[in-house]
Amino acid sequence: MQKKEQLYEGKAKKVFATDDPNLYIVDYKDDATAFNGQKKGQIAGKGVINNVMSNHMFQLLEQQGVPTHFVEQLSERETVVKKVSIVPLEVIIRNISAGSFAKRYGVEEGIVFKAPTIEFSYKNDDLGDPLINDYHALALGLATEDEINEIKAMAFKVNEVMKDYFDHLNVTLVDFKLEFGKTPDGKIILADEISPDTCRLWDKTTGEKLDKDRFRRDLGGVEEAYQEIMRRVMGK
Ligand code: TMP
Ligand code: ASP
Repeated sequence: MQKKEQLYEGKAKKVFATDDPNLYIVDYKDDATAFNGQKKGQIAGKGVINNVMSNHMFQLLEQQGVPTHFVEQLSERETVVKKVSIVPLEVIIRNISAGSFAKRYGVEEGIVFKAPTIEFSYKNDDLGDPLINDYHALALGLATEDEINEIKAMAFKVNEVMKDYFDHLNVTLVDFKLEFGKTPDGKIILADEISPDTCRLWDKTTGEKLDKDRFRRDLGGVEEAYQEIMRRVMGK
């Protein structure tokens, strides 16, 4: 596998072409941003943790029948993934009120929902990723009706697998964001990453935040929180 030219640099990852037209290499950075890039910083070791943890989660999900873009980890920060075109939707599942949900609807954090919620944002930095519903996604041509239904079913399945998994690690899965991609033959698969950048993870006993909220809200101990999650996920 040969790493070729850089195709894209995002806030937390770079994407490279390879000598195989169906495969990309992602390279995870320590750079952290919040609030649509308005707040910038670095979280030492984050790139390694997000790479290793995402790959671990993708393999777990594959075993449970969820197709993902994961192919092979190359190094601490680099992973081979299937080439997809990203569906421009941020798919957010919530089990407990927190973050923008608590703010938008004027409720406290920590309310356990009777059933998980799903929401879509239109992935567009210039517009600040606005919240949209299924009909808006259809109207904007972001996905077909079948694709939206498939994405919803997969997202809820991911929630069931991950909720149970984190529960065993004494971690509450509060909410998380997923992104999906379309392969050249038109299949929808799970893409992007699953990490403390994209999930709210609270210690089940103490309620301590073990995710990027520590960076977003200047709570301190951000590196330690990422390391703690990594330690629990990787069992060391
Ligand atoms: P929110 O409460 O700010 O809407 O975030 C919900 C979840 O989505 C939370 O686990 C963090 C994740 N998320 C991202 O991964 N990327 C983003 O750009 C945003 C806004 C949230
Ligand atoms: N909004 C993202 C976050 O808070 C990052 C960013 O948009 O810069 O996780």
